[in-house]
Amino acid sequence: LNPLRGRDFLSLGDVSPAEVEALLDLAEELKKKRGAAEGAAPLAGKTLAMIFDKPSTRTRVSFEAGMIQLGGHALSLSRNELQLGRGETLADTARTLSRYVDGILIRTHAHATVVELARHATVPVINGLTDLFHPCQALADLLTLREKKGRLAGLKLAYVGDGNNVLHSLLHAAAAAGMHLAVATPPGYEPDPGVVAEANQIAQTTGARLSFFHDPEAAVRGADAVYTDVWASMGQEEEKERRIRDFQGFQVDANLMSRAKGDALFLHCLPAYRGLEVSEEVIDGPRSVVFDQAENRLHAQKALLLTLLG
Ligand code: CP
Ligand code: NVA
Repeated sequence: LNPLRGRDFLSLGDVSPAEVEALLDLAEELKKKRGAAEGAAPLAGKTLAMIFDKPSTRTRVSFEAGMIQLGGHALSLSRNELQLGRGETLADTARTLSRYVDGILIRTHAHATVVELARHATVPVINGLTDLFHPCQALADLLTLREKKGRLAGLKLAYVGDGNNVLHSLLHAAAAAGMHLAVATPPGYEPDPGVVAEANQIAQTTGARLSFFHDPEAAVRGADAVYTDVWASMGQEEEKERRIRDFQGFQVDANLMSRAKGDALFLHCLPAYRGLEVSEEVIDGPRSVVFDQAENRLHAQKALLLTLLG
């Protein structure tokens, strides 16, 4: 039974809580088997095309390495290497690539671009980050929390910072997993109300709780884990100075971490900017699991690739 097979992975809001759990179970299994499964090539002969309109370290390398480990192949393309950069339509690009490859990953600006690509592709499309969502990241984050805490349901996760793509997918993820996600953003940087409504709908079926603050300490109180992300995302470079001013008081530092539980973890999707959204002491300290998160991108995405392309 594989209901995700042949489907797209554009938003975690489209994936049922049971499917999320199945992906995490498979990821955990693949992580344990790593090395032991040498010779097994479940995606032999399969190709993933990856289109990047924005830079990437983790997404690009973990998807490429993941495809190779599963016996397949991945090719990384930037818009300007494709005729897309010279005005060929997304629709024609999607139709053409679908004749060659078994899946398409895209990282781009507008979420509508990914939706448009998926509409015309006849192979599964994976969202490798848009301005609105980062579902692959949230999947790896759930895997990391489950691995470190032994469970997800009932955990309290605090998110402090910008109401951005990473938070939007975390809202879906926490809702699916039955967690309590407490969010603190500066006024004016709240998450998208449509995404919050969608996440609240999922939460009603799982017992998850989503709460929203403008005071970081209020969100972090008693949390099992504290998450932050950059204040200026890719594409917001010109807003950086204003954002640094607006986010004063939102740095995750040792003082803020002391409001969480004594064994609270620190999470960040990376790349991180020490001295802005997080202090060096916290991100390089003993409670930080940021490189486990980065590693888990690989395992979670291998589970996704097997499920969608297998
Ligand atoms: N977290 C994440 O998506 O990293 P990259 O931008 O390096 O892919
Ligand atoms: N919010 C960040 C995440 C990077 C992985 C961005 O979109 O740039």
